[in-house]
Amino acid sequence: MQKCHCGEVFFEEIVGRSLQSGRDFRELMVEMGAGQICTACVGDLYAYCEDRLQESGLSSLLGAVSR
Ligand code: FES
Repeated sequence: MQKCHCGEVFFEEIVGRSLQSGRDFRELMVEMGAGQICTACVGDLYAYCEDRLQESGLSSLLGAVSR
């Protein structure tokens, strides 16, 4: 899964916004409406965002999960 189909939000958009703003992707996904309806995407969404943010060397954006 590459996007939240309920919210019509691509995971990449969440990562991009997290990298731009320095904010936690979990706050942004809520604000962007991802993972809020059927929640079927949430596991994939977390895995995708965590992988990408770690690749970017910005694991601080992963918040408490990685600490
Ligand atoms: S697919 Fe993301 S909440 Fe339903």
